Amino acid sequence: MDHSKSTIGFIGGGNMAQALLAGLLRAGHEPAALRVADPDPAQQARLQELSPDLGVGADNFAVAAAAEMIVLAVKPQVLAGVAQAVGPRAGQLVVSVAAGITLPTLENWLGAGTPCVRVMPNQPALVGAGMSVLCATPSVSDAQREQATYLAGAGGDTAWVEDESLMDAVTAVSGSGPAYFYLLMEILEATARDMGIAPEVARKLAVQTALGTGLTASETGSPPAELRKMVTSPGGTTQTALEVLEQGKIRELFGMALEAARRRSVELGRDA
Ligand SMILES: NC(=O)c1ccc[n+]([C@@H]2O[C@H](COP(=O)([O-])OP(=O)(O)OC[C@H]3O[C@@H](n4cnc5c(N)ncnc54)[C@H](OP(=O)(O)O)[C@@H]3O)[C@@H](O)[C@H]2O)c1
Repeated sequence: MDHSKSTIGFIGGGNMAQALLAGLLRAGHEPAALRVADPDPAQQARLQELSPDLGVGADNFAVAAAAEMIVLAVKPQVLAGVAQAVGPRAGQLVVSVAAGITLPTLENWLGAGTPCVRVMPNQPALVGAGMSVLCATPSVSDAQREQATYLAGAGGDTAWVEDESLMDAVTAVSGSGPAYFYLLMEILEATARDMGIAPEVARKLAVQTALGTGLTASETGSPPAELRKMVTSPGGTTQTALEVLEQGKIRELFGMALEAARRRSVELGRDA
């Protein structure tokens, strides 16, 4: 189905909203069908730069009222007040990108039976290479799921989970995930410099190696373990390095880190 003319109303026009709006415009969405409400005039100016035809204003209720799909893109701390004031009509789909706010909490704020989709995006959505995971309340129709996939797809790739409790694991893996890869890039860059490589070259070695590795895994579709074996000749440099990492129990360490992140996500959801 062609969603490119559907009316989408964003409440909150910050980083995540701008990433999704830029993606929708790149994909050919009708600019006049996209509306955004944000109280900050500087933010409104940045939004208008995305397209002169984008509907930008400060009235949350007006933006929500005119939309087939309402996207809540404010910080979790202000979401309760915003959601309660929006008051969706029958037939409107509400999508929240707020980290840690559960579907029952959203439904409680928006009204029982409101079709709600929760999305966990990640930072690379800012360049259209994000990973978003979605889950829905039972009242969300198949057509509305397709609408939500279309929206989240503007920021990169998408996947659905049916069991909302898995969103905590998703947060630990893909939500926080970019930070793990940045840390690895930081280590590669710093070590390259320590070994005498010029700073600008050291940065390139780290970033381009990360980019190329991600692209290779994505484009070949081969399991990472198989691709790793392809660069690991017996007795060679890579094998020597990997042995040091395995001796340092890198797998156990990462397992513990991800489990700690998952538990923290559960705690934050409980406090919200
Ligand atoms: N950025 C990411 O990488 C990322 C990743 C995953 C999930 N998320 C989720 O995305 C949501 C938005 O994050 P963000 O990084 O885009 O935050 P952000 O850049 O701070 O954007 C939020 C925007 O909402 C505006 N706002 C505040 N109160 C409002 C209200 N009552 N009505 C309408 N707009 C209001 C803010 O204006 P002021 O600045 O004037 O307050 C700001 O422009 C969060 O819930 C976050 O959990 C973000």
